[in-house]
Amino acid sequence: MKYIAIIGFGVVGGGITEVIEQNKAAVKRLVGDEIYVKYILDLREFPDSPYGDRVVHDVNIIADDPEISVVCETMGGVNPAFDFSMLMLKNKKSVVTSNKELVAKRGVELLSAARQAGVQYLFEASVGGGIPEIRGMRTSLAGDTVSGIDGIMNGTTNYILTRMKKDGASFDEALSEAQRLGYAEKDPTADVDGFDAQRKIMILTAVATDMMADEGDVYRETMRNITPLDMDAAARFGGTVKLLGSARIGEDSASVFVCPFFVPSDCPLSFVDDVYNGIRVMSPVTADVMFYGRGAGRMPTAGAVVADVVSVLSGIAEKERSAKWEYAPDGYITPFEENSFSYYLRIRTESPEECAEAVRLAFGGAEILQGSPEGFAELITDEINEKDARSLFPSLEGLESHIRIMK
Ligand code: HSE
Repeated sequence: MKYIAIIGFGVVGGGITEVIEQNKAAVKRLVGDEIYVKYILDLREFPDSPYGDRVVHDVNIIADDPEISVVCETMGGVNPAFDFSMLMLKNKKSVVTSNKELVAKRGVELLSAARQAGVQYLFEASVGGGIPEIRGMRTSLAGDTVSGIDGIMNGTTNYILTRMKKDGASFDEALSEAQRLGYAEKDPTADVDGFDAQRKIMILTAVATDMMADEGDVYRETMRNITPLDMDAAARFGGTVKLLGSARIGEDSASVFVCPFFVPSDCPLSFVDDVYNGIRVMSPVTADVMFYGRGAGRMPTAGAVVADVVSVLSGIAEKERSAKWEYAPDGYITPFEENSFSYYLRIRTESPEECAEAVRLAFGGAEILQGSPEGFAELITDEINEKDARSLFPSLEGLESHIRIMK
């Protein structure tokens, strides 16, 4: 028997016990032994749960038990999850987690502590829920470098954008539906303002480069301002609007950002709808690889945590290339303003032709998007540096929308 513990018995923590029970035979085949959840650390009691008798309230009971080899941290948040994880690692217990905030903010120190203790710190479930993109990038793409990542990494916002696209819903209507279905929180800030996607693209960039960006260096833009007019324009352009977490990676630099994009329909990300996630990884040798699946939810996320448990207990994790992250040094993260994009512009005007000419002159070139609603000029500009574009926007009287176009 292999003994593990769960700290944080919420949605994902509870799912772990279910996955282990449901996949008992498969897990035993891979690990060579059964996995037994010996402790559950939580502030609450669970008298109605079959695991209620394993609940403890003192983290040291787990840390001091030599039988425990792996601890699943599914508490969320930085504190006390960081202290608890450190305690476990220092006590030579591997830690596996779904906690993206902790991995993004303190993953460097946790990985270092794991290395020093000769154990593992794994976090497959922290990005893309049940999608195995972290292991895929770390092992299957190990013979290549990663030059870019574009990901729909937040299921809630993807659901909202899908409702806006398919039903013509406004942002507020689609958000209310997402809240009614339990996808969006009552306070949807983390999802719709891009904080969740920001943490996830920081993690994936670190997986690709071993450099963890500072949150302040990762550009983040809300998707609250996307309107049905934007969705309609994106359809006429030949694509759709998606909130992307992206990284452009050079030899000694990376630019990391989260914002809404027009995604052309020849890119498979444009077909990733509802609560699904899709992550496109670009590399010079392998070219584009696309990971697709359920990026959130109790069972897919718990499944990814259990996969990490299995990889520790079966010895796979020890043999894999071990992550050795550093905080990105000054200058490594390129400012967002240094990127270049084409832009979709919607400008309220009585004279669309004159307006288009003014945009052409300012941006060095632009195509008119056909089928504009009355009283607007809509243009797709030539590629221009973000910093230059920002300096031009205030001069465009009547500018209602500007959305970057994914390359
Ligand atoms: N709120 C997140 C999402 C949960 O909607 O994708 C999974 O990280």
